[in-house]
Amino acid sequence: MIYLDNNATTPLASEVVLAIDKCLRENFGNPSSSHSYGLKARKAVEKARKQLADLIGASPDEIIFTSGGTEANNMAILGMAKKFHSGHIITSCIEHPAVLKPLKYLEQHGFKVTYLPVDKYGFVSPDSLIEKLRKDTILITIMHSNNETGIIQPIAEIGKIAHDRGIVFHSDAAQSVGKVSVNVNKLGTDLLTIVSHKFYGPKGVGALYKRKDLALEPILYGASHEKGLRPGTENVCSIAGFGMAAEIAKKELKGRVQNMKYLSKMLYDELRKQIPGIKLNGHPSKRLPNTLNSSFPGIMGSVLLEKLKNEVAASTGSACHEGRHSPSPVLKAMGLSDERALSAVRLSLGRDTTEQQIKQAAKAIVKAYQSF
Ligand SMILES: Cc1ncc(COP(=O)(O)O)c(C=O)c1O
Repeated sequence: MIYLDNNATTPLASEVVLAIDKCLRENFGNPSSSHSYGLKARKAVEKARKQLADLIGASPDEIIFTSGGTEANNMAILGMAKKFHSGHIITSCIEHPAVLKPLKYLEQHGFKVTYLPVDKYGFVSPDSLIEKLRKDTILITIMHSNNETGIIQPIAEIGKIAHDRGIVFHSDAAQSVGKVSVNVNKLGTDLLTIVSHKFYGPKGVGALYKRKDLALEPILYGASHEKGLRPGTENVCSIAGFGMAAEIAKKELKGRVQNMKYLSKMLYDELRKQIPGIKLNGHPSKRLPNTLNSSFPGIMGSVLLEKLKNEVAASTGSACHEGRHSPSPVLKAMGLSDERALSAVRLSLGRDTTEQQIKQAAKAIVKAYQSF
């Protein structure tokens, strides 16, 4: 079985497993306690905060630990909305539900939201963003890269537009951190979402980067953990694992990019040779090096994956509701027909994917496709 679903989640790195194991055995203290057990746990949390800050070019006091990407996105969007009470927010129509749903909630409570369209590659246009700005625009939230296509948005350009006008800019970088270089200073983001399990850390832990001088309202109420922004005793050992994942990502990033780019190109070349009419969804180069979203002519992606279920683990771009497959809103927003969107399969490689696996996966996919 070859695992090509690394955008859904990644296996834990062995260094991460060791870090969590050591922490679970040796570090049960409450990081808020002032005795030595507490201090030891606090040290583990603060070490991870620094490891994560180092990965994204932030300072440790700009990192707020959360339960994952969903919470970090909610914290950024609802927290800004609570600060302003009303106003206008700009986003794109291809965001993850963890951004779209809080925005829908805000619309029901009087906020105005503009959903920017994307072009055939899946890019938001910075010019169309400028056109949609209003006097009461309080927030721009645009994802760094898309989970289905891997398309990387022109975030630095958008960051500059936001800053020139004093508008707060949030980016959901759940899929990007650990796969490509993400530096908050180069990008000009005020808020950035990071998810541990997308880069070989544990699930149920994430972080929101918040620029030091930015004020944000909490969305949860309790004690004063995480500078009063995220009350609740910290998930110490998962945070320690998250920190370790960040440290490894920093060391390995260049090699990961090169390797995944090489292997995903090899995979697509192999498929293209034997499946005439296969189409890449998204831009050929401006995307995550590990992500290959393609449409297989004449067949539903879900049917192809069902056939491959004992050989290749991947996913379709479509959401399955009550057993009925509907075309992916992300691919539809790029102007793809229902037929092409429904025939899409997302293959996402990981740091441990090998050339041998890619060859084997390509063979299995071609064989499954030709069997119909
Ligand atoms: C782009 C994006 N944002 C947010 C999330 C949510 O992360 P989590 O499931 O850790 O809350 C995901 C996870 O799939 C994602 O891909």
